[in-house]
Amino acid sequence: MLQQRIFHSLIKQVRSASAARGAPKALTPGVLFPRVQRRSKSIGLPDAREQTLVAVKPDGVQRRLVGQIIQRFEQRGFKLVGLKMLQVSEELLSEHYCQLRTKPFYPGLLRYMTSGPVVVMVWEGHNVVQMSRTMVGHTNPTEAQSGTIRGDFSIHISRNVVHASDSLEGAQREIQLWFQAKDLLDWDCCDRASTSEI
Ligand code: TYD
Repeated sequence: MLQQRIFHSLIKQVRSASAARGAPKALTPGVLFPRVQRRSKSIGLPDAREQTLVAVKPDGVQRRLVGQIIQRFEQRGFKLVGLKMLQVSEELLSEHYCQLRTKPFYPGLLRYMTSGPVVVMVWEGHNVVQMSRTMVGHTNPTEAQSGTIRGDFSIHISRNVVHASDSLEGAQREIQLWFQAKDLLDWDCCDRASTSEI
């Protein structure tokens, strides 16, 4: 009985305080506090569908770093839309690295990149091309900051664990080179309101 009286008096107090604030009449007995309203109109970030290509190179696969690398992109908030493991051909690599064919390190790069399987992925999200490059770190691990993938997992430029496209145009070209459109999934992430809408 006493509890009932306290409950009703509490409701009265909350109602009169709400009326004084001009609050909506959503308050009903049993609901002491109005629910926090979800914004009904959110809009997608302008480049929320931006995509980039990330590859774990043969040394990363051999050293069982695939899981840790995927985790970094997942926890950052990006969405995985394509993933495969493959033994790369020299033809594909010479297309991928077409701008480096004349470099002295190119033959060694080809040997390294074909020395074992790679895991190649397409990640999607706001500003993903630039952010992936920052997450991957400097090409030369000697100069890569701690906290970046190369800065944490590698010590030499010729074994730098991971690749990420360096520009929007590069990303589009590389994604088309490594994946067929049918292998990229268009799916809704349940946390998209937190990662790709404003
Ligand atoms: P590059 O496209 O210049 O760098 P990034 O991978 O950061 O986009 O070079 C491609 C790869 O070539 C690089 O990841 C490692 C290899 N490489 C060497 O082995 N020696 C070198 O001197 C350079 C510049 C690159």
